[in-house]
Amino acid sequence: MRVLISGTSKGIGRAIALMFLKHNHEVIGLDILNTTIDDPNYTHYPCDVRNIGMLPEVKDVEILINNAGVQTNSIDDINTNLVGLINTTNKYAFQKKIKAVINIASASASTGSEFPYYAASKGGVLSFTKNTALALAKYGATCNSISPGGVIGDANKHILDNKELYDKVLNESLLNKWAKEEEIAQFAYFLAIYNKSMTGEDLLIDNGEKLKANFIW
Ligand SMILES: NC(=O)c1ccc[n+]([C@@H]2O[C@H](COP(=O)([O-])OP(=O)(O)OC[C@H]3O[C@@H](n4cnc5c(N)ncnc54)[C@H](O)[C@@H]3O)[C@@H](O)[C@H]2O)c1
Repeated sequence: MRVLISGTSKGIGRAIALMFLKHNHEVIGLDILNTTIDDPNYTHYPCDVRNIGMLPEVKDVEILINNAGVQTNSIDDINTNLVGLINTTNKYAFQKKIKAVINIASASASTGSEFPYYAASKGGVLSFTKNTALALAKYGATCNSISPGGVIGDANKHILDNKELYDKVLNESLLNKWAKEEEIAQFAYFLAIYNKSMTGEDLLIDNGEKLKANFIW
C-alpha cells in the first residue's frame, strides 16, 4: 500500500511509519523537521501541514494518517492539529485509490480537559472525522480517529522525568499506566489494513482514564 503519514520525524508518527515499513508498505512522510528514518521504502518531504500550498504532489495515496500535532496552548494548536489535518485530507484523500484515513485525535477531545485550544482542536478532529467518513463512502473507504490518553514519549518528557508528577498522572488512569507509541501504531495499522466495516468512529486508548470514576455512597 502507498501510505502517507504526517509528523513522522518524532514520536507516534515515527512509530507508525516504522510499523508500516516493517510490513513492507511504501511510506511517504511529511514533517517540518528532517527525518531519522533510513529505509528504501521511505520518502520524506519537509513541509508544514498548516500551509496547503507547501504540500508535495503525491498521487494515489491509499492510506492517509493525519498525525502531526502540537500542544502550544495557543491558536497554533487549531492551525496545526485541525486546519493542518483538513489541509492534508483535502489534498490527498478524495480520490479513487483511497482506502482509509486515520486521524490522531486525543482523549482530550472527549473529556474536554487539557489546554483550551488543544481540546478544541481535537474535538474538531472528531467532527471532521465523521464529515470525512461521509464524503469517503462513495470510494468504499473508511475514516476513523484514534484518541490516545497519555503516551510514553519525548512529547511528555517533563512528566516522565518527574517521578512525583508521573505517579500523580498514572493514578488518574484505571490501569495505572500509559500507552507506548508502538501500541498506538498497532491501532493505526489495524484501522488501515484490517478494518473494513467501521467508519466515522473514535477509538479511545486511555488506559481507562475516562472510565475511572469514584463511586461515593
Ligand atoms: N503523546 C501523547 O501523550 C499524545 C496524547 C494524545 C494525542 N497525541 C497526538 O498524537 C500526535 C503525535 O504526537 P506526539 O506525542 O508523537 O508528538 P511529537 O511532538 O513527538 O511529534 C509530532 C510530530 O509532528 C511534527 N509537526 C508538528 N507541527 C507540524 C507541522 N505544522 N507540519 C508538519 N509536521 C509537524 C513534529 O515536527 C513532530 O515530528 C499529535 O497529533 C498529538 O496531539 C499525543
